[in-house]
Amino acid sequence: SELYLQAYGGTKPPFTTDPTRLEAEAERVLDPGPFHYVAGDAGSGATTRANREAFDRWGIVPRMLTDATERELSTTVLGQTLPAPVVLAPVGVQSIVHTEAERATARAAAGLGLPMVLSTASSTSIEDAAAASGDGPRWFQLYWPNDPDVCGSILARARASGYTVLVVTLDTWSLGWRPCDLDNGYLPFLKAEGTAVPFSDPVFRSRLDASPEEDQAMAVLRWISMITGTDRGWDALPFLREHWDGPIVLKGIQHVDDARLAADAGVDGIVVSNHGGRQVDGAVAALDVLPEIATAVGDRLEVLFDSGVRTGADVVKALALGAKAVLLGRPYVYGLALGGEDGVRHVVRSLLADLDLTLGLSGRRSVRGLGPEVLVRR
Ligand code: FNR
Repeated sequence: SELYLQAYGGTKPPFTTDPTRLEAEAERVLDPGPFHYVAGDAGSGATTRANREAFDRWGIVPRMLTDATERELSTTVLGQTLPAPVVLAPVGVQSIVHTEAERATARAAAGLGLPMVLSTASSTSIEDAAAASGDGPRWFQLYWPNDPDVCGSILARARASGYTVLVVTLDTWSLGWRPCDLDNGYLPFLKAEGTAVPFSDPVFRSRLDASPEEDQAMAVLRWISMITGTDRGWDALPFLREHWDGPIVLKGIQHVDDARLAADAGVDGIVVSNHGGRQVDGAVAALDVLPEIATAVGDRLEVLFDSGVRTGADVVKALALGAKAVLLGRPYVYGLALGGEDGVRHVVRSLLADLDLTLGLSGRRSVRGLGPEVLVRR
């Protein structure tokens, strides 16, 4: 409503409030390498397109005369009360789009009271990002190093810095086939900006033959080799439980059997996600597997969702199909590129305002208790 009041007064927002135009606006301010790294996806882009098409196949059926004048966006996720069912997804190397990088995102998220998930591939150290987020809720995303001491050290630092929820990303034990980045010769991870978390870690540094300053490329490769490859299975999860005393969430779940294995393993939540279409080309749309997964395990753990969320209607659809909350990826990164902390805030506030209006005009008062009866399949 504040956005509307501004518009009634003739004031324009800093940049578009239309999520379908954000990418084009960000392209104008970014160099091709960083822009395509953020916008890009695996292979032919089929998974990214599928993510959007899946949302378009569902329609919201509005109800009338329900008195939805006052709406309630707040909800409880993993024991935390959040002002809205929206979390800022882990996105690495944010320094490639803005000098304030994860610090700006952390401040914007904290200002809105929404969790930011700090990536292991962050260009800001765990401690600096935590300081920037102040009293804001913070979650930590793990790319799981195969060296248990390095892993334990990173998790201990995250806990000491006030990160409460551990999000373990399972779908990126190797980077997907990304022709665009290959063609641009642009992979940010081979630069120090993508490695602040291990580089600031004393145990990781003790594993290096030379200091990272002396041989940065070797140090980065050493790190990449630690998080690449997958010789562990579901029986490795107790290690994480031993090193983390808060909720553990597995990100990248797409098969209902994996969702069941996650529940059997006793984790607290999963993120149904295909990494925004960046890993497996031709993968199933994340939204298409959400209902079956939510039905199978929704009473045993919390089901979160990402991949393709752009609008308030998308949030309503994901919640109606069984998600407790959604994670937002690229849109806020475009906001960061376009306006730093204020840009992130503008994108997320616009999404929340859109969600609030869409919910109300659909005749629903609360994000809690939305179910499939809200939707029809086109
Ligand atoms: C990501 N994502 C990601 N995920 C993760 O677990 N750790 C990470 O470091 C990153 N890094 C990353 C960088 C960039 C540039 C993008 C666009 C994405 C995936 C992210 O958390 C999320 O799953 C998707 O972005 C969600 O899809 P949408 O909202 O971008 O469509």
